[in-house]
Amino acid sequence: MRKRIIAGNWKMNMTPSQAVALAKELVPLVAGAEADVVFCVPAIDIVPVAEVLKGTNVGLGAQNMYFEDKGAFTGEISAPMLLDAGVQYVILGHSERRGYFGEDDVLLNKKVKKALAAGLTPILCCGESLEQRELGVTLDFIRLQLKSDLAGLSAEEAARVVIAYEPIWAIGTGKTATSDQAQEVCGAIRALICELYGEETAEAVRIQYGGSMNGGNAAELLSKPDIDGGLIGGASLKTEFAQVVKA
Ligand code: PGA
Repeated sequence: MRKRIIAGNWKMNMTPSQAVALAKELVPLVAGAEADVVFCVPAIDIVPVAEVLKGTNVGLGAQNMYFEDKGAFTGEISAPMLLDAGVQYVILGHSERRGYFGEDDVLLNKKVKKALAAGLTPILCCGESLEQRELGVTLDFIRLQLKSDLAGLSAEEAARVVIAYEPIWAIGTGKTATSDQAQEVCGAIRALICELYGEETAEAVRIQYGGSMNGGNAAELLSKPDIDGGLIGGASLKTEFAQVVKA
């Protein structure tokens, strides 16, 4: 059985002092959760939030990472830096990074490989735009994204990746994919992993849904066989996050 994983993506919200306060508020609400729980916080919040999460059941995640270990890459943060600060997870390829910051699949493949080699768990995002959905190319597009991002991994490595299916049209819009729409794509993702890495890896890999997931719709989405968790934006900044974890 795959252990469920609920991750909050705080995006560019919360100053360090606000982040500490939010983490302190949420930690007791998710204590004893059956699922893995992760807070993916802004880079500047990592060090103070790590202090709050020490000895709790909540994992710490970053929202981005560069693939080189160190050097002249102004503004970037490396895997060894994240590890040393107590980070276990890193979101890679979020549609906001792909869209606003021009990250492509060739770059993301390097980032995924580096994260795995360093011992971090990548939360690798994929998902189609509304235009792509209307053109009927959703599954083709996601196959291309994931085949590129996961290229060159061993089956053991692929099994450690958490894949987040996030339709772009559902992110921050209040328009959640229906549970059937989400299941269709998450099922297709698992079938792709089976095709690339075999049955055992496909059964092991955890697939999240993300996009306006909240306390009200989480239980229905999580009832689907191929949805193993959620990547939560807006609702991760409120006590409502605990309702998603309970679901
Ligand atoms: P949302 O964001 O829950 O606010 O839609 C999800 C995400 O972008 O990870």
